[in-house]
Amino acid sequence: MIVKSRYYEVINEIIEKIDIDGKVCVDCTLGNGNDSLKILSNMKDGFLYGFDIQQEAIENSKKLLEKNGFSNFKLIKDSHSNLKKHIDTNVELIVYNLGYLPKTDKNIITKPDTTIASIGEALELISGSGVIIVVSYLGHKGSYGERYALDAYLSKLDQDKYLVEKREFFNQVNTPPVVYLIKKRC
Ligand SMILES: C[S@@+](CC[C@H](N)C(=O)[O-])C[C@H]1O[C@@H](n2cnc3c(N)ncnc32)[C@H](O)[C@@H]1O
Repeated sequence: MIVKSRYYEVINEIIEKIDIDGKVCVDCTLGNGNDSLKILSNMKDGFLYGFDIQQEAIENSKKLLEKNGFSNFKLIKDSHSNLKKHIDTNVELIVYNLGYLPKTDKNIITKPDTTIASIGEALELISGSGVIIVVSYLGHKGSYGERYALDAYLSKLDQDKYLVEKREFFNQVNTPPVVYLIKKRC
């Protein structure tokens, strides 16, 4: 479908369209590893770094990726605000799926300060052809503050340096997620 009705359709289309073969990609919010699996399934060679602050997320993701035959990844139990501490190479795709890990502690959530700090580092690591995807949800505690911070920060990125697109499922009820797409202007 050209017009999407779900956030993951946007992610799927981008992963399929940009060439991540042989490149480095980053999943900044591992959770259960579903986004990481999607990324690895769409590259032949290449390498994935995954971040999460919860041990459970690291273990769940490791299990899922290994079960599917992948070993070309490194999962890091640290905040995504420390991206550059762990990665010093150009990256082709960086994905954030914000909020909390479903069916676990709803108090362990992504937060405005660390999310914005991380996107700042992601902008330094992303390659000229690369894309940063940020999926933002509303409804949980702290979510409106994070959305406000994202809107404020991303709307102020220098338009001569970056393209920022904000996709909304405009007529859907119950505060659907929005997807921000960020790319360097070449
Ligand atoms: C909505 S879930 C991610 C879903 C996941 N991408 C998937 O495919 O299952 C959000 C995740 O972000 C993690 N998280 C929260 N703050 C973080 C931070 N500062 N750095 C890295 N991960 C963080 C949470 O622990 C949680 O697992």
